[in-house]
Amino acid sequence: MVIRIAYFSWKGHTQKVATALAEQVNAELVRIEPLKEYHIAIGGMKAFLSMKSPIKPCKTDLAGIDELIIATPVWSGKVPPYVNEYCSSVTGGEGKPFHVIAEMGGRGSDGAIATAKNQLEKKGMRFVSSASTVERDVDSGAFTATVEKFAAGIRKK
Ligand SMILES: Cc1cc2nc3c(=O)[nH]c(=O)nc-3n(C[C@H](O)[C@H](O)[C@H](O)COP(=O)(O)O)c2cc1C
Repeated sequence: MVIRIAYFSWKGHTQKVATALAEQVNAELVRIEPLKEYHIAIGGMKAFLSMKSPIKPCKTDLAGIDELIIATPVWSGKVPPYVNEYCSSVTGGEGKPFHVIAEMGGRGSDGAIATAKNQLEKKGMRFVSSASTVERDVDSGAFTATVEKFAAGIRKK
């Protein structure tokens, strides 16, 4: 079972979550990075409007990958425009399962998960599970229980 975790992280919280999850499910990590320097307020507005922003070339083809996990911060109750760009660039996902984990300040994970879910379902992928973490738990280390539970569900399949 080859699993890929594609993640975007601005301040490092989602990276911490994605890295812990990768250890638990033995996954390949792919970092989604903006192509250019960006202004955070514009990023937040683009997230709100469900817009995309260019990203650096990274692995978007799912050939040889059995399962995809998107790890994303919640931005404006949705996902960063770089995550939208990644989801829209995914190829070879038809019929493959995916999961979403959203990292947030406090609210909006449902909207973020739905945003990623809708895009990947349009690619013919099959949504399986989701989870969310909160910034203060990532800072304190208390997030690991959430990640372990999420990982156990992914491994059990
Ligand atoms: C532009 C922007 C919009 C955000 N919108 C939300 C939001 O709607 N709800 C929320 O709970 N947190 C929101 N946050 C907070 C982030 O989700 C939170 O800080 C998260 O830990 C960031 O992950 P990162 O450290 O991987 O970048 C927002 C942050 C930014 C920069």
